[in-house]
Amino acid sequence: MKVAIASDHTALPMKEEIKLELKELGIEFTDLGAYSDERVDYPDYALKVSEQVVQGVVDRGILICGTGIGMSITANKVRGIRCALAHDTFSAKFTRLHNDSNVLALGQRVLGHGLAREIVKVWLETEYEGGRHQRRIDKIAEYEKSSCSYVN
Ligand code: RB5
Repeated sequence: MKVAIASDHTALPMKEEIKLELKELGIEFTDLGAYSDERVDYPDYALKVSEQVVQGVVDRGILICGTGIGMSITANKVRGIRCALAHDTFSAKFTRLHNDSNVLALGQRVLGHGLAREIVKVWLETEYEGGRHQRRIDKIAEYEKSSCSYVN
């Protein structure tokens, strides 16, 4: 498995902590920035990581900003991205089992580093369950293919 990770300027310490977790898990990763605490815009980083995921350069993405919300909103605009904002291990597990989420968003200002590492570990180690959940994911993909809304 290969992972792309990125954060904005607010979340550099948590990004470093998660990189340690990835190393411990023996998971290959690319750090796509930010690389300094100079102010940046989270959409730039969410899009970089998400594009790598949908293009198949990496298998999964991890995004961190102050709350994780801006990153998740942006990532979910990219066709094929199922980004989960998960601040507990239960959600991290079930978003893999049921949603086959391919990007995880975290909030540096919300979580302690220990819990963030646990969330990342569970999220990376849980396999998608498939079965009845696939029909639901297919509906999301189907909607993404069209530019029209279900509500006319
Ligand atoms: C940056 O100030 C902050 O808005 C960002 O890190 C994030 O929390 C956005 O959702």
